[in-house]
Amino acid sequence: MRTQVAIVGAGPAGLLLSHLLDRAGVESVIVETRSRAYVEARIRAGILEQSTVDLLREAGLGERLDREGDVHRGVYLQWPGARHHLDFVDLVGRSVTVYGQTEVTRDLGRARDAAGQEIVYEVTGTAVHDTDSAIDSAIDTAIDTATVRPSVTFTRADGRAERLEADVVVGCDGSFGPCRTAVPEPATWERTYPYSWLGILADVPPSTDELIYAWHPDGFALHSMRSPTVSRLYLQVPNGTDAATWSDDRIWEALATRLGHGEHGWTLTPGPITGKSVLPMRSFVQQPMRHGRLFLAGDAAHIVPPTGAKGLNLAVADVALLAPALADLLRHKDPRAADAYSERALRRVWRCTHFSWWMTTMLHVTGDPFDAQLQRSQLEWVASSTAAATGLAENYAGLPIGF
Ligand code: PHB
Repeated sequence: MRTQVAIVGAGPAGLLLSHLLDRAGVESVIVETRSRAYVEARIRAGILEQSTVDLLREAGLGERLDREGDVHRGVYLQWPGARHHLDFVDLVGRSVTVYGQTEVTRDLGRARDAAGQEIVYEVTGTAVHDTDSAIDSAIDTAIDTATVRPSVTFTRADGRAERLEADVVVGCDGSFGPCRTAVPEPATWERTYPYSWLGILADVPPSTDELIYAWHPDGFALHSMRSPTVSRLYLQVPNGTDAATWSDDRIWEALATRLGHGEHGWTLTPGPITGKSVLPMRSFVQQPMRHGRLFLAGDAAHIVPPTGAKGLNLAVADVALLAPALADLLRHKDPRAADAYSERALRRVWRCTHFSWWMTTMLHVTGDPFDAQLQRSQLEWVASSTAAATGLAENYAGLPIGF
């Protein structure tokens, strides 16, 4: 097989990249380890920044998003006895949209189907080869005449071995995929947190119009949502927690306590829990995000903890930079944007890494009373100072794509 861009991973980053490349006249093939049903059901944070929404709209993917997405002006920040609304529209002129990652992935999948995109699902043994043939110094000749092209090898579900040759390979294959480890001697940074999230999906209308981020001495809680009839809620739990040890009643009781059921006339309505899982929390960055003809985008290069809902938005921002850069490289033999990709993407990556770390450490109980005092002080500052609230709003609603 032969294509211009071999994309490893058919999550939102890989699908959006192939979509944008197609619109720029560049051909790609996607290979994916999982089944399509698995990829489309994978639940992640469902908050889209303004620039993510704008980009999806401009790419012709806004129809269902505009119809079903729920525009939120801001979020609530609370601790026992206090709930404050931060209005992002007033503070920074931008909103966020609640629209699940599952929905973004499905819309992208349908758009790729309509365009006849080749996506090979359920492959095994994916490996990338010969990615270090230079393209930056002698672009005019190297792209056309390189005798050793990069390739992706894999085995199809029916057992057939394949070699996919390409001009460049893009790793959109997450932090456990093979692309990240194909970059020789990268610099890496990692932080694990001493707590996890227990997340539930429930068939009950949300008890709030906008998300509630709650600090509580028992641990953090978050009230989010997926639709007018489906709620998504989270509880801070110790690392290593087995979701099965949390009965539905225990979950609703802890949520009621931490989210302030009964305070100021607010009530939390419980309902049937349809999904329950424990999510570890981790920050990770690997750089550079490019090695020769191999580029990394999304979780393949960076992981953020979910507080702040940056993961999908960051992947979209990577791809928004990478797609035009690859089009310049492959169609116009202009390597400048491809050469600048890693550095430009990492600027935003580190901003979001800091913001996600800051939100996480401000809201999660560690058991250390000094930490608790600092957290309360920060929360009170954000709730009472327009300058502090603006900083949170600017980061949460998202910086412009080119940041
Ligand atoms: C979610 O809806 O799953 C969600 C929302 C906001 C977060 C994290 C997760 O910060």
